[in-house]
Amino acid sequence: MKVKGTHYRSLWWNHDDDVLEIIDQRSLPYEFVTRQVKTMREFEDSIVEMRVRGAPLIGATAAYGMALAMKLDPSDANMDAAWASLNATRPTAINLRWALNRCRASLLPLNPSDRAAAALELAHAIADEDVEINRRIGVNGLKLIQHIASQKPDGEPVRLLTHCNAGWLATVDWGTATSPMYQAHDAGIPLHVWVDETRPRNQGALTSWELGSHGVPHTYITDNAGGHLMQHGQVDMVIVGTDRTTRRGDVCNKIGTYLKALAAHDNGVPFYVALPSPTIDWTVEEGVAEIPIEDRSPRETTHIQGTREDGSLDVVKVTPEGTAGGNPAFDVTPNRLVTGLITERGICDATPEGLAAMFPDLSKSE
Ligand code: MRU
Repeated sequence: MKVKGTHYRSLWWNHDDDVLEIIDQRSLPYEFVTRQVKTMREFEDSIVEMRVRGAPLIGATAAYGMALAMKLDPSDANMDAAWASLNATRPTAINLRWALNRCRASLLPLNPSDRAAAALELAHAIADEDVEINRRIGVNGLKLIQHIASQKPDGEPVRLLTHCNAGWLATVDWGTATSPMYQAHDAGIPLHVWVDETRPRNQGALTSWELGSHGVPHTYITDNAGGHLMQHGQVDMVIVGTDRTTRRGDVCNKIGTYLKALAAHDNGVPFYVALPSPTIDWTVEEGVAEIPIEDRSPRETTHIQGTREDGSLDVVKVTPEGTAGGNPAFDVTPNRLVTGLITERGICDATPEGLAAMFPDLSKSE
């Protein structure tokens, strides 16, 4: 996507320095900062500290981490060590394990001396595939938006609501939930997006930054406003991303997604999930009981980051001294609340049958 006239991906390979470059998302939306990731420690910290974030992006980053590990020491033992340390960085998004398993499966049979080059090629392939998957999710999701637009008087915007940032920053490019929005906007369909702030880390500010840079009209709202807007007929469709979707279609996504799904259900608002196939965990059936939910630092709830009027970055405390904060970072929306899954192959029901019919090759392989 374009930033100040230049097309950026959220990560890219710097061929001059032979190193991975990332956009440091901790500095956004205040400052656009890029960084080189040069050591295994920097790979792990980038994911843990959410300099890179979003399920598809942490998967792609982990693949580049494995490439570095193979350059440093291509032994089986080091491959196992890199798998374990990278996989331990964040527990909920399944793309991390998916990418690391894919790396291990293709690198293990190789002669160690061939592994470094093969691992880097594979990381590039995973990144490029992510871009194409998300582009296709956009093509499929666009049809839903076109359908809503066709039922409205000319010029009246399709009103979407999204939670967190499932945008190009959370993937390698396009985003998942935002891809249909970008493609609809580019096709000339009038849109308006309600952007949930997504406390505690305010990923909605990243979504606003993205949509604003692309010229998509949007409004940043508090997390609790969505239900009210739906009751008043202000939302035509909800589109969110996912960090892990089970084989029966339960959707784990950023904390607060479940409440949006409940409100959508109560108000008859379609609730769609943009789902790239690497985000399906075919080993898990029932999401609430089986998906590990990341428990993050309470400091993220008791403190908030922003900029002062002069543009300098600041962190302020919002609670009284001694207040305990609780910070589960994701929740699970049961499949019965999900209208449909927008995948790279098409739109399917959030049911075991729907997913198995869309991905017969993948559902049988795990
Ligand atoms: O904690 P984050 O910011 O990594 O969480 C991101 C989300 O929950 C996204 O909605 C999800 O990863 C889908 S990204 C296309």
